[in-house]
Order: sequence, then structure tokens, then C-alpha cells
Amino acid sequence: MTTPLRLGIAGLGTVGAGVVKIIQQRANLLAQRSGRPVVISAVSARSRAKDRGVDLTAYGWEDDPVALATRDDVDVFVELMGGSDGPAKAATEAAIAAGKDVVTANKAMLALHGQPLAEAAEAQGCVIRFEAAVAGGIPVVKALTEGLAGNQITRVMGVMNGTCNYILTRMESAGLPYDEVFEEANKLGYLEADPTLDVGGIDAGHKLALLAAIAFGTRVDFPSVELEGIGRITIEDIRRAADMGFKIKLLGVSQMTGRGLEQRMTPCLVPASSPLGQLEGGTNMVVLEGDNVGQIVLRGAGAGEGPTASAVMSDVIDVARGIRVSTFGQPAPSLEQARPARATAAAPYYLRMDLLDKPGALAKIATVLGDSGISIDRMRQYGHDEPKAPVLIVTHKTTRDALDHALKGFDATGVLASDPVAIRIEAV
Ligand code: NAP
Ligand code: HSE
Repeated sequence: MTTPLRLGIAGLGTVGAGVVKIIQQRANLLAQRSGRPVVISAVSARSRAKDRGVDLTAYGWEDDPVALATRDDVDVFVELMGGSDGPAKAATEAAIAAGKDVVTANKAMLALHGQPLAEAAEAQGCVIRFEAAVAGGIPVVKALTEGLAGNQITRVMGVMNGTCNYILTRMESAGLPYDEVFEEANKLGYLEADPTLDVGGIDAGHKLALLAAIAFGTRVDFPSVELEGIGRITIEDIRRAADMGFKIKLLGVSQMTGRGLEQRMTPCLVPASSPLGQLEGGTNMVVLEGDNVGQIVLRGAGAGEGPTASAVMSDVIDVARGIRVSTFGQPAPSLEQARPARATAAAPYYLRMDLLDKPGALAKIATVLGDSGISIDRMRQYGHDEPKAPVLIVTHKTTRDALDHALKGFDATGVLASDPVAIRIEAV
């Protein structure tokens, strides 16, 4: 009889309950694929009484996740509680100190503490695996650390937050208001415990920072991610962008340049006909570019019980098989501290603003653009009843510095009736 791999699972919410279900329903398959049985020794959550739709009576219970992480009958600590600090970090540190391997779905914790945790784990001969932390069910961490290990990665790009993509696409397709769509995303199990992490772009920024570390052999540097959420995007923007042949996506782009490491997670316009433009609902898409392989596109469910639990199980099976890869694909002490660089490559921009409806208003805006060296590609003024005129401009390629100069110039014209919205148009 082969020795079973014994799990301690902390967190029995959307993801944790999904993992327990797979282990209960697929015991034989998991044993065959792993070469040994995968069993649960004990679990932990805040409330022991809560009905989670799974039978937990066969497992030990710990109120304290640190106690769970250090139990003698636990080989792998599976952290599915969430939160960058607090119990998740304390229990993960305790597990490592006790010589346990760790599987986690917690991008917040790794984006902020990935380097010291990886160093501690590797010093102890333990692994930290985090496939579920990035893009839900898509095996993108494995693709980067293993499948593309023979490449110099040149760019990582993608839509990595299911909630934001669900909100943006559903508002457009169903013509529903933000609040109603947000509630739907909640029911689908997409949301973080603190949903501002989702709509603020922070969750997707965490994921991008983790992928960048693997892709470029650098220390995770979340604070340097240029970040903007979807809070300023209105149904009006979504519809007007569609009129011009674009979709709005919360898009992450990371690349190593001669000036340093660029990382940005911001709303962007992409062509409606492009694969990213056609991405609907909670689906994620990650585009990886390597010098030998060219471009790889991975697409799939980015959140929810089944897809995320699937990714957790892939890590558990790897540990059971004896596969031991450094957390970020190379020994943690060898990861370099990259110099952060702001994205300077020129791009076209979408500009939306309301102008006071008086003679010469549009001419003043056009003059500011010209004075900033920005050329107009397309411009539309929409019909209106109010004394303010909605105007939409698509520029030719320009730099962010020139655009910032123009935005300051708009302020000084005295013809703005609302703050302008400026969104980069990304070539994808
Ligand atoms: P969730 O539904 O809110 O579940 C969190 C679980 O952690 C709950 O069972 C909760 O206990 C437990 N918990 C919280 N604090 C605890 C503490 N101090 N001690 C013991 N247990 C504690 O969250 P989730 O959606 O499953 O997400 C879990 C992790 O997966 C997070 O890191 C999240 O970012 C990540 N993730 C989620 C998804 C997704 O689609 N949901 C996708 C990818 C990654 P109670 O149930 O008793 O309150
Ligand atoms: N809240 C996250 C999302 C869960 O919506 O993508 C998956 O990481």
C-alpha cells in the first residue's frame, strides 16, 4: 500500500468546498493519477456549524488554522481562506516552519509576501504551489514555469479578473445596471471577500505581478503595478466604445524593456473583433509571448467553485507525484529586483467628455490636442437635450505624457462640463 498524501484544508468557502467535493467524488481517479491516495486529515473554517453542502464528519476539525497547518497528520497545508495577512499568512508561515508543503489560491498574500515566503519554503525544502491564484481554472502558472521554461518571455498580457469581465460584458449585453450585474457575479462565486479588490483592479494586479515574477525572473513587485479599476467606466462608455468598434476590458500588460519592468493593469479598449474583445462573462484570457514559442493564448473560466478547485487539485496532484518546482520557477534568492518602468510606448486613446454647448467649445478642445502634438483620428458629437454636449474623440497614436499635457490643457479651456475619461486603445 502506497503512503497517502494527507491534506489539511483551511477555508471551506467557494473554493475549499469545491476541493473537498473533488476529493470525495474522484478518489480513485486522483489515486491513479497521483500514484497514491489523496486524503483529507482535517479542515478549518470560522464556523463549524455552517452547512457547506459537503460531509465533513470523517475529518478532524481545527478552529485555529495555525494548529491545522502544524498537525502531525498533515503533509500539505491547503490555504483557501484568503487575505494578504492575518490567519492565511500566519498559518502558511507556520506550515513552512513545520516542514509542510503549501498549496494556496491566495494571490493577495503571494503578491505582497511572495518573496519571503518562497525563501522560507525553499530553505526548508518545501514547495509553495499557487496555480489557482492566477486566472482560476487556466493552468497559466504551470504553462510559464514548466511548458515555456525554454523561452525568454517577452510579454505577458491578459484579462485576469472574472468579476470585472462579467460586469463589463453583462452590462452591455443585457443592458443591466452595474448593481444588478455585480449581484449576479456575487451569486456565481466570483467575488473576493472584499469586492473592491475586484472592481479596483487590485486582484488582477496581484495576478499580473505573480506572472511577471515567473516570466522575467524578478521578485514579485505588486506596488509598482500601474493600477486603475473599472469604477469610472459607465454604461455610456461601454456603448460608445461599441459604436466605434471597441470593447472595454480590464487588461494587464507586463514586459521587460531596456528601461525596466513595465506592469500595468488598467481599463483598455480592444478591437471588438479580437479574441480579447470577444471574451464574455467570467472568462479569462492570458496571452504569453516567448522568443522561441511565439504567442500562446490560454482561455477559460477565471473564477468560481469548479474551475478554481480544479487548479488547486492540479497542484495537490503534482505534490503527490513528487514534482518539486521553485515557487516562481527558479530559486527565490536568484530572483532579481527589477527596476520599475512606466509604459511609454505610444498608443491611440479614446477620450470622452461633456462640453458646455457654446460656440467654439469643440474648437478649443481640438486646439489643445493639436498644441499637445496629438492628432485626431475620429470624432463624434452626440445629440443632446441638456446644455452639455457629449463628445467622443479617438486619437492617433500618442504618448501618455502628451495625453496628460492635453488633459491639463482641457481643464484650462473652461469648456468642460465634466471630467474627461481617457482610455488607452491596445493593439492585441
Ligand atoms: P470564501 O468563499 O469567502 O471562503 C473563505 C473561507 O475561509 C470560509 O470558509 C471561511 O470560513 C474561511 N476563513 C476565513 N477566515 C478564517 C479564519 N480566520 N480561520 C479559519 N477559516 C477562515 O472565499 P473563496 O472565494 O473560497 O476564496 C478563497 C481563496 O481563493 C482566496 O484567497 C481567493 O482570493 C482565492 N480565489 C478565489 C476564487 C473564486 O472564484 N472564488 C478564484 C481564485 C482564487 P467560514 O465559511 O466559516 O466563514
Ligand atoms: N475575484 C476573482 C475574479 C476570483 O473575479 O477573477 C478569481 O481569482
